[in-house]
Amino acid sequence: MPHHQIDFQFLAAPSDVNFGGKVHGGMLMKWMDQAGYACAVGWTGCYCVTISVGAIRFRNPVYVGQLVHLHAQVVHTGKTSVQIFISVEAADPKTMHAIETNHCIMTFAAMNDAGELVAVPSWQPQSADDYLLEHYAIQMKGFSCEAERLLTHRQQPFAIDIFDDNPISNIAMKPS
Ligand SMILES: CC(C)(COP(=O)(O)OP(=O)(O)OC[C@H]1O[C@@H](n2cnc3c(N)ncnc32)[C@H](O)[C@@H]1OP(=O)(O)O)[C@@H](O)C(=O)NCCC(=O)NCCS
Repeated sequence: MPHHQIDFQFLAAPSDVNFGGKVHGGMLMKWMDQAGYACAVGWTGCYCVTISVGAIRFRNPVYVGQLVHLHAQVVHTGKTSVQIFISVEAADPKTMHAIETNHCIMTFAAMNDAGELVAVPSWQPQSADDYLLEHYAIQMKGFSCEAERLLTHRQQPFAIDIFDDNPISNIAMKPS
């Protein structure tokens, strides 16, 4: 059976934090993407690309010097995609008392060397938590696909007028 979960552990470094001494949200998203990618590749045995990221929650800050633990696990598979739930905890390495700081759900598509989508091994939930997370993943995927369909009705998907002389209005979305 392919690997369905993976763990990363490392210390939050001074280069990871913002002026308040907390790890940048973007850095946390990068770490979650890396853990999700490693988990997706371990499950599918293929190169994978990120399709969507949902329900990112920043519950508590991560501080410099804390031990960061990311856990990524397969929670649902479709035909060519795999959904990974990623949770992040941070602990003071002196006490090892950990608290949850973040979680999100990511969808990855498996590809062959020609860049074509390929079928992924099917995931079967085992525990009650597995079933709950799969239900959550299916709901999130449905929401994400439905929300994307709504956006297809936009009349002006790229409404920023780059030829406008006013630099302020250049960064504002123009009404349709
Ligand atoms: C990934 C990609 C090839 C998919 O192309 P596509 O034409 O949308 O493909 P499909 O419509 O066949 O969907 C492929 C899978 O994604 C799923 N999917 C599509 N939109 C989704 C969404 N918004 N949320 C979750 N899953 C979604 C589909 O359900 C399907 O999964 P399934 O086969 O398990 O049911 C294409 O979107 C792409 O190349 N995106 C860029 C990826 C990238 O650059 N990522 C960042 C760097 S890795």
